[in-house]
Amino acid sequence: GAPIEVDLGPVAEGQEIKVFWRGKPIYIMHRSAQQIDEARTVSLSSLPDPQSDQERTKEGYEQWLVVVGICTHLGCIPMARQGNYNGFFCPCHGSQYDSSGRIRQGPAPANLPVPPYQFVSASKIQIG
Ligand code: FES
Repeated sequence: GAPIEVDLGPVAEGQEIKVFWRGKPIYIMHRSAQQIDEARTVSLSSLPDPQSDQERTKEGYEQWLVVVGICTHLGCIPMARQGNYNGFFCPCHGSQYDSSGRIRQGPAPANLPVPPYQFVSASKIQIG
């Protein structure tokens, strides 16, 4: 599939949008300062799939989280801004992801993947 461009201008802080890339739902979340802080202060050794928030976001654009919205357990679509970690909740079997899209609780074995993307301007990304 071809890369897609997404305008982030309309996405207010605390909201997210879902777009489709290669047939997959992609969540783009405009994180609050609190969500960023929570994502960056957790101890990595406490995470089932240890990855820093810095590795999962772009420097200078840390308010934006871009993840594939497919639960790594059995493929349901998690709901955004739900669950115990201010991130995503999968209604199928209760997996909980944090505000960096990392698995924190439940049966899913891995973090929500970050698709390849880059900022083409301060308010536009290209995915793919
Ligand atoms: Fe998400 Fe099972 S598919 S918890």
